[in-house]
This record gives sequence, C-alpha cells and structure tokens, in this order.
Amino acid sequence: MTEAARVRDLSAEDLAWMADREAEIFGTSAWSRIEIDRDYGSGLRRYRGIEEDGTLVGYAVYGFDGDSFHLLNLAVVPRARRRGNARALVEDFLAEARALGVSEVSLEVAVTNTGAIRLYQDYGFSIVRVRPRYYQPEDVDGVVMGLVLDGP
Ligand SMILES: CC(C)(COP(=O)(O)OP(=O)(O)OC[C@H]1O[C@@H](n2cnc3c(N)ncnc32)[C@H](O)[C@@H]1OP(=O)(O)O)[C@@H](O)C(=O)NCCC(=O)NCCS
Repeated sequence: MTEAARVRDLSAEDLAWMADREAEIFGTSAWSRIEIDRDYGSGLRRYRGIEEDGTLVGYAVYGFDGDSFHLLNLAVVPRARRRGNARALVEDFLAEARALGVSEVSLEVAVTNTGAIRLYQDYGFSIVRVRPRYYQPEDVDGVVMGLVLDGP
C-alpha cells in the first residue's frame, strides 16, 4: 500500500472493472458479471475497493452469511501485490465487523492458497474446518477460517 492508497465503496460503475479482474485473477472460478450485478444489487454486501493514486488495484466483498460476518471475496491485481493492499482491505473488513458489534468473522480459502492463509493467520484467523473438494472445477479443498473478535 502506498501513501496514497485508500479504501472506498465500489460503485455500480466499478463492477465491469471488478468482473474483468475476477476473470483474470480467478479464471474458471471467477464471479461472473451477472453474479456480481445480482449480488451487488441485493444491497446485502459491502463492495469495497482499494485505490493507489486514484486507480483501483483491489477489492473485497463482505457481509452476513447467516449469522456469521463473512469475507466473501478478496483480490489485489498482480502489479500491486506485496505492499499491504490486502492488509488494508482485511483491516477494513474487521473494522466494519467491530463497528457492527459482530463477535465472530469467517472466510473460506483454498488450502493451496498459502499466501492468503498466511495473511489471515497474521490477523489471528485459525482454521475451523476443511471442506473437501470445495473449489470446482479445480477440485481443491477449501478451509473455513474464523476469528473471534474482542468485545467493545
Ligand atoms: C492473496 C492476495 C489478496 C494478497 O494481496 P497483497 O496485497 O499482495 O497482500 P499484502 O501485501 O497485504 O500481504 C500481506 C501479507 O500476506 C502474506 N502474503 C500475501 N501474499 C503472499 C504470498 N504470495 N506468499 C506468501 N505470503 C503472502 C504475507 O504475510 C504478507 O505480508 P508481507 O508482505 O509483509 O510478507 C493477492 O495475492 C491476490 O489477490 N491473490 C489472488 C486472489 C486470492 O487468492 N484471493 C484470496 C482468496 S481467499
């Protein structure tokens, strides 16, 4: 993250950009433009983006999944990685959870995604359970990670 990085809400105009990044970054398991539009339009999620010098370089989607506050999506474009952009988005997610008084947060990640798992572990997330073959068509296990937040 550079000095000029900032986290902001994604607008409807940013969704085409997000869908293109999804396809580049996640390939066959990317959220499609239709899925993004539908989910965004539900109004139930926070769609957040991070900018460097006024240009979007990453995004996160989070919201309630049942009674759990869940990080549903997180990605940073390759050229802007390893300089704290994902950290800023995770911190934004955790700040929102705390502001809402949520006591527990969760997320899912592929067991092979060791970089992301390390990122989440840095914030105290631990592996709650394994979902065998959760990611298709890659046929990779998912891990559910959770974090109990301190009270106010
Ligand atoms: C995972 C991802 C979001 C990390 O974004 P990022 O902006 O590069 O992450 P940060 O710079 O904030 O990294 C924070 C920490 O996470 C860990 N980390 C991130 N990427 C890592 C990697 N490739 N290898 C090892 N550790 C990594 C490190 O502990 C890092 O701290 P450090 O740079 O001081 O060592 C990014 O690589 C990405 O978009 N990957 C593809 C999509 C994806 O996997 N999303 C997560 C799905 S759950």
